[in-house]
Amino acid sequence: MHTSVSNKISLPKVFLTRILPDIGMKMIHEIAEVEVWPERLPPPYEVLLEKVKGKDGLVCMLTDQIDAQLIEAAGGSLKVISQMAVGYDNINIAAMTAKGIPVGHTPGVLTDATADLTWALLMAAARRVVEADKEVRLGHWQTWEPTMLLGVNISGATLGIIGCGRIGQAVARRARGFNMRVLYHNRLRLPLELEQSLDIKYQDLDVLLKESDFITIHTSLTNDTYHLFSDVQFQMMKPTSILINTARGAIVDPEALRKALINGQIAGAALDVTTPEPIPTDSPLLGLDNIIITPHIGSASYQTRAQMAMMTASNLAAGLKGERLPHCVNPEVYA
Ligand code: DGY
Repeated sequence: MHTSVSNKISLPKVFLTRILPDIGMKMIHEIAEVEVWPERLPPPYEVLLEKVKGKDGLVCMLTDQIDAQLIEAAGGSLKVISQMAVGYDNINIAAMTAKGIPVGHTPGVLTDATADLTWALLMAAARRVVEADKEVRLGHWQTWEPTMLLGVNISGATLGIIGCGRIGQAVARRARGFNMRVLYHNRLRLPLELEQSLDIKYQDLDVLLKESDFITIHTSLTNDTYHLFSDVQFQMMKPTSILINTARGAIVDPEALRKALINGQIAGAALDVTTPEPIPTDSPLLGLDNIIITPHIGSASYQTRAQMAMMTASNLAAGLKGERLPHCVNPEVYA
């Protein structure tokens, strides 16, 4: 009894802003004295400021605001921040680096799950699956009709990928099964060999917007990509085109999207991410039939979330021991 108490006291202290999948919780309980926020909603910012005080490690989510003030509140003990997500636009990385705190994230393991959901949304929007299901439930299905709920073909269409990193490339790979012409736009052009093996073609953004039947967003949210899709971009798109966003909501200007959907500048949209999140239930976007919205579930498969939790725990464990994080956002802290 005595031994276990003294062992516990010597463990590093960590705060988790949410309960992780079991495997991650188990790993973290083995290495740390854990305080976990047990609610469904994230801890309010003021609470987070209190909770990080004196902690050695912080496990956070994309719903937490992690900034310079929070690091000050934590005091000098904080050694590592481990985020259970690949994206980290909620974290002020420069402020963490300035304090020498490594930030971990979970790249790679959610690539396929996110690409799968992108395709689920693309296909659902193309073939109006959500509207069709609603019609059946409302008792509107009376007979087979020659022009009922017509959608657009996916096979042979042109797919435009904005941001061709891991997830964009996984989306492109899936497009081969549909015999699509695939264009991409990226900050940096990919090596020719990779373009050839994926059978994708680099295009200027304007050309991609004009030529694509489906456009899917996989870039991260930065100052440069904030509202990348606004009035001008929608005006360039085909009136039959469909926009899919599984990256970050703020890349699309929601008011410009609403106008584009109402005015027929584009035919439809499918979003797994919105701004803000959650989208308010009185948002005008939710009143439109030609948009599908899911609640940021790109990585939400049992297997993927378990892998993300394990990676989060491994990053945390390394940081607590003062070792290099296996997946570090700001490796310059080790310079
Ligand atoms: C991420 O990891 O950044 C996704 O948005 C959620 O899994």
